[in-house]
Amino acid sequence: MITVFGSTNLDQIGTVSRLPKPGETVAGGTFSMAPGGKGANQALAARRAGAKVLHVSAVGDDAFADLATELLRDGGVDLSQLRKAEAATGIAMIFVDAAGENVIAILPGANGTISAQDAERGLAILSGSDTLLVQQEVPQSATRKALEMAREAGACSILNTAPFLPDTAKLAPLADIVVANETEFSLLTGRPIEELDMAMQDWVNRTGRTIVVTLGPEGARARTPDGPISVAAHKIKPVDTVGAGDTFCGYLAAGLDAGHSLEAALRRAAVAGSLACLKPGAQPAIPTKSDVDGVLGG
Ligand code: RIB
Ligand code: NA
Repeated sequence: MITVFGSTNLDQIGTVSRLPKPGETVAGGTFSMAPGGKGANQALAARRAGAKVLHVSAVGDDAFADLATELLRDGGVDLSQLRKAEAATGIAMIFVDAAGENVIAILPGANGTISAQDAERGLAILSGSDTLLVQQEVPQSATRKALEMAREAGACSILNTAPFLPDTAKLAPLADIVVANETEFSLLTGRPIEELDMAMQDWVNRTGRTIVVTLGPEGARARTPDGPISVAAHKIKPVDTVGAGDTFCGYLAAGLDAGHSLEAALRRAAVAGSLACLKPGAQPAIPTKSDVDGVLGG
């Protein structure tokens, strides 16, 4: 089973011809709402990949809570550890332009109340055959507790470093697998992107663990104590990249949970991440297992 410990948002999406600059007003475009949040997106991606998934999170005591969790519920994600907080449901305000470029502001609400106690309660049943998947849209003290509990239980833990937070370098060595994009990895290691391969090798030497760096249209690279792995993305024309990284992480966790090799799980994750860019919104765009099989000819 996969346990995702992290955020749940309701995304407020403005599709505009171009992104407004500070102080500028841009008129025209369309508005929509869709379930989002990095934790929830990753939970749904793992579920659509075929895994059994528990989502440990919090929503607010408002009308947005049901909308934010609708697709998780419909998809059969276990929501028994979803806490109702005395706060607003987490919101992400997103603008996407005609080229698929976006800007996002996150208003954490209930996600900001997620604590080490939520980890203690929600992860109490974690066992050595489980996979824990965490991101950084909830307080770092809570994420730390979740990673420590995975270590104690002997579960495989995956940390996605998005969004990047100041103390990520302290947290990252607690995870068996770290998944970062190029910018986050550069911030994590203090090394320029040009030194990517060297910095990845140094990471493995220092931590003895696996690092995965996602490269958008270029796919992803990984380093493990056994050596390097490189997988391609699926060539597409992106409509909206919001949620692509989450889809990658959810599929990676599901692949490993299903017993695939890291290379096979990464290959599926990279294709799933590409397919997630073909539709607007985060969760509505997450591909199903058969979509991914269709591309990989499986
Ligand atoms: O990673 C994409 C997610 O980031 C969106 O769904 C939005 O909620 C923001 O948190
Ligand atoms: Na998308």
